[in-house]
Amino acid sequence: MKYSIKTAVAAGLALIAAALVVSGAAAPARRAIGAAAVNATRHLNANSEPGTWMSAGRTYDEQRYSPLTLINQSNVKNLSLAWYGDIDTTNAQESTPVIVDGALYVTTNWSIVKAYNAKTGEKLWEYDPKVDRVATGPIACCGTVNRGVAVWNGKVYVAALDGRLIALDGRTGAVKWSVQTTDPTQPFTITGVPRIVRGKVIIGNAGAEYTVRGYIGAYDAETGRQLWRFYTVPSNPNDPNNKDPEILKRYASTWKGEWWKYGGGATAWDTILYDPKSNLVYFGTGNGLSWSQDIRSPGGGDNLFVSSIIALNPDTGEYKWHYQETPGDEWDYDNTNPLMVADIVVKGRMRHVLMQAPKTGFYYIWDAKTGELLSAEKFAPANWASSIDIGNGRPVENPAARYGVGRPALVYPAALGAHNWHPMSFSPRTNLVYIPVTENAAAYQSADPATFKINPRGYNTGQSNSAAGALFNEPGAPPRQGPSYLQAWNPTTGKEAWRVPNAVFGASGTMVTASDIVFSGNQAGEFVAYDARNGTKLWSTPVQARVQAAPATYTIDGEQYVAILAGGGAGPPTGVSRTSATSANNARILVFKLGGTAKLPTQPFAAAAVPAGGLNPPPNTATNEQVIDGENAYGKNCFTCHGQAAVGGGSGPDLRYSPLLRDLAGWKNVVLGGAKATNGMPSFRASLTDDEATSIQAYVIRRANDEKDVQAGRAGGRGGRGG
Ligand code: HEC
Repeated sequence: MKYSIKTAVAAGLALIAAALVVSGAAAPARRAIGAAAVNATRHLNANSEPGTWMSAGRTYDEQRYSPLTLINQSNVKNLSLAWYGDIDTTNAQESTPVIVDGALYVTTNWSIVKAYNAKTGEKLWEYDPKVDRVATGPIACCGTVNRGVAVWNGKVYVAALDGRLIALDGRTGAVKWSVQTTDPTQPFTITGVPRIVRGKVIIGNAGAEYTVRGYIGAYDAETGRQLWRFYTVPSNPNDPNNKDPEILKRYASTWKGEWWKYGGGATAWDTILYDPKSNLVYFGTGNGLSWSQDIRSPGGGDNLFVSSIIALNPDTGEYKWHYQETPGDEWDYDNTNPLMVADIVVKGRMRHVLMQAPKTGFYYIWDAKTGELLSAEKFAPANWASSIDIGNGRPVENPAARYGVGRPALVYPAALGAHNWHPMSFSPRTNLVYIPVTENAAAYQSADPATFKINPRGYNTGQSNSAAGALFNEPGAPPRQGPSYLQAWNPTTGKEAWRVPNAVFGASGTMVTASDIVFSGNQAGEFVAYDARNGTKLWSTPVQARVQAAPATYTIDGEQYVAILAGGGAGPPTGVSRTSATSANNARILVFKLGGTAKLPTQPFAAAAVPAGGLNPPPNTATNEQVIDGENAYGKNCFTCHGQAAVGGGSGPDLRYSPLLRDLAGWKNVVLGGAKATNGMPSFRASLTDDEATSIQAYVIRRANDEKDVQAGRAGGRGGRGG
């Protein structure tokens, strides 16, 4: 324990204050708006304060289940807007609001925090950490997004895209302290939510494609002082100054070659969960650098702790157990997807479990204390492995999914994953987990290690996908983008209970309440309430934007509110009419209640972001070779934000609709010149040549014409490349 006497006294006083509040439980003391008076007792007992949403996952178990029932199956149809706040960006929104002591806190792009009066919507304050957008944008793989704040002892914590961890005053937004948690000369970014565990703030970082060595760290919540750090990749075992803990030294043998030169990746970019019952903090790690093992660890090996779940002692950062979902991962199967803890029946016995529905398509259930794998059933189609061997905990891999140099493989799920960061929820009443599922496939092929050069500020997947794309033209090949749906999954039976298909491809976070209502948005621009028992649509409303983030619910003065941060990629929903009111992308915090009387403007303010001409590419004139070059460069640099195979759906707009397809100079001005760098579109001057920028445009023009064919009912459009 590294508490100072001063913090111990403060914590003691806070405990007494909490005890006083609990003794008057019927009418809890009304704290000043923005007091953010969260302490250990309150955090541990968050479930007994149904009216608050105290942390991103609401409670430590992160089930995103609310005991509130004021909004129920019969009156939910009367839900309407109570208030809204405009978010001044058209970029993707990923933050779950946190609502405590009368204030609602959300984060938006560039790690900006906004605080509102949760009842009236009055803006209390806003804090902009002023991230250097031009320098940081190009190393943010998947958008300049942020997933939310943590709250503790009067303070609100945000992790900024540039690696700072910042504590703000809950009432004013004034900076209390700020620490740099990463080496600013290295290409680290942070998009995740800090978690508060026993007076410590815990946060990881991102950048596994950009030559970093992943780690997670704990910082004193009062001062920001670093208390411990746990690295996820061994450093050079032959270095006499190697300071790795024993556990990392042991696993250095699971690597080959000189991985440490480029860090190795395995970043902890999203999920972190604390289980008070086990007194363990769990987190997931991402892919290794590069994806291709031929480059990362020639000759194979498990490459620990790439793509793993790790359990640590929260006080010391000491290793307790790990489980690696994809040993020797080559498909970008991060394990950073949301974790949750629950008490459920598995194989006839009530167990205290840790669960995850990650990118791999398998639903994993572990004993929370020991990490023993209890179950791993497929919740979505997956061809990389047929099953998981519960006995030894290893996947039964499909050998054909392992690719190499000149040896492509068509694999599903692809890098987007069957389920990515979008929060899932669990209802102990229905015993169902509500998962936003996306089916997708990709062709992988290793770049040649003999000629491949790691770009230290660029996006390195170690792929040479161009020729591999031909696999999609073979009979029986799955589509690059399959269906997406809201799935109700029964973790006890390992079976789907029901699903609701999405009209427009994509994923949106979920929340479930004790009235058996699942709330979730969709990429067609709606916010929806479903019957948690069978998926029946109970209510929906257009929100003038795609929705990716997860909702939260709370009460004030006897009324229940439901909040959602709307806003998808920079574009309007794909496939929806681009001139209708629902098709703009107005990033907003929207708060609903029964009989709310607020109205959204009829003229969506982001309408200017909607390309006036719709799908209007110039004719294909480029050679197949140029299109293939463009596809290759697109696959290396652009797909994370603009969508796999340029079909949109990420944090950037659908480029097939860009008017710049008819304006090569304007295109280069954006792609190389950084004309939109402050909007989250990085300059690729450092990693692309002029010719490559031109080839990417040729490739996108080809994809736009493919789409035109599809929309006109003509054949083609599926291959995604010349031929
Ligand atoms: C980190 C995320 C990200 C990556 C990676 C990225 N983009 Fe973007 N891009 C964006 C965002 C966000 C916008 C919208 C900016 C705005 O709203 O002005 C955008 C806009 C654009 C536009 C302008 C479209 C228009 O019609 O105005 C072009 C062209 C573009 N990107 C091309 C590319 C190319 C080519 C690549 C790969 C070399 C790429 N982008 C990689 C995020 C990204």
